[in-house]
Amino acid sequence: MQIYKAYNKFVPITGGQRLEPTESDIEGPFYYAGAPEITGVFSSPKLPEDRSLTLSGRVLSTDGTPLGGATLDIWQTTTDGVYDTEGYTLRGKLRSDSDGFYKLETIIPGGYEINDDPLDIRCAHLHFKISADGYKLITTQLYFPDDEHNAEDHWYRPGRVIQYPIGHFDFVLEPIDEIASGVFAADHLFNPASPVHIPAPFPAKQGIAKLPDTQLEYSDTGGKGEPVVLLHPERSSTVWGYQQPVFAKSGYRVITYSRRGYGKSDPVSKENPGSAVNDLRNLLKFLGITKCHLVGAAAGGGLAMNYALSYGADLYSVVSSSYCPIGEVKDPDYIKLCIRLCPNGFNEFPAEFRELSPTYRVSNPKGVEMWSALEEKAATGVRIGQVNANAHEVTWEKLAHVKTPVMMIGGDADLYMPPPMLRAYASHIPNCEIAILAEGGHALYWEQPEFFNSIVLGFIAKHR
Ligand SMILES: [Fe+2]
Repeated sequence: MQIYKAYNKFVPITGGQRLEPTESDIEGPFYYAGAPEITGVFSSPKLPEDRSLTLSGRVLSTDGTPLGGATLDIWQTTTDGVYDTEGYTLRGKLRSDSDGFYKLETIIPGGYEINDDPLDIRCAHLHFKISADGYKLITTQLYFPDDEHNAEDHWYRPGRVIQYPIGHFDFVLEPIDEIASGVFAADHLFNPASPVHIPAPFPAKQGIAKLPDTQLEYSDTGGKGEPVVLLHPERSSTVWGYQQPVFAKSGYRVITYSRRGYGKSDPVSKENPGSAVNDLRNLLKFLGITKCHLVGAAAGGGLAMNYALSYGADLYSVVSSSYCPIGEVKDPDYIKLCIRLCPNGFNEFPAEFRELSPTYRVSNPKGVEMWSALEEKAATGVRIGQVNANAHEVTWEKLAHVKTPVMMIGGDADLYMPPPMLRAYASHIPNCEIAILAEGGHALYWEQPEFFNSIVLGFIAKHR
């Protein structure tokens, strides 16, 4: 099992945490200033389709704030490893949009010999200079996973590898006052629960899917990107305001839907409750989707894992956030943990107490109010009563056969799935990574959307 601790990405500072700035790399001899502004496409030379690359991501501050209007000055070689040294072919300046996003359509560059020395070779790479007012300029490079010269290139770094033909990378810049003082200035202290602006929804088709034995409401951004299906928690079906536009702008086709008993979907009928796995299977058929990523939160994370047990070959990856398998995993060692975790009377506490971290509740009252409103609005019918899958229960033995790459995300203040339980569950999945967010509760997609999105996008970009 691969263990990935989100903690490692952050450097603890007084009062909070921060994202690590993107590592610098050499400028090399082929940069010159004056490249034209571009709107996302290197227009010449003609881009060969079999070497095409769509790279997207965001520019962020070390406190997680998206940096709109940042400049990305980019230069690269042709597929044959040749730089234009007279003009601006495959050179240009992009600007991030108001939510910090950038997108570049280009070609995969080629490696080249340094000083015409066949023993001194650079692997394929893209060069960047990234700047934003008030932030330290960084000069860096991105690499590719299977270039034949990676091992020979002294500058190659696996931490800055992107996938192709669709790649994702978030750049993190340091505020200048933080650098000058050596510590975070007071107004840059990162509070994981500080309010985060909800971006405008990405345009999507809204519809009702008429499935064999039920009708479910859905939203689909369409397009040619790999499909990402967001599976909502038990508390709400309309919680993806922070994720839908971010994932769609990153090049994915994003589908959200309400399970039976939520939103405008059919209620759960006593006679024929169906199963959440079968409903999802039928919805994907309805949408013409043969393979996708599943990203689920809490109960939605459980559905994602159940789907992987039944139809894992049809998934690129599964992200299961804050999934709490109480009552679902039948192994006695796990049942013992569950009994210790939730004493009698636990469920009588208000939902926001049980599901949002103390950090979030004391720091972000407006966010608590908005989350509670979504929670109350969500359930329109019987929401308990539909099982994930009729055919099986989850056991450690069954999880050992899951071949789909899985990312489990948890919060260290999650009352339903504290880190030891998350690690216990994850340890039974062969290809599972873990990310644990500090000061995070049960609703990480809402409490810490920047970190949540960054972890999800980084993970699913690796598995396609
Ligand atoms: Fe270069």
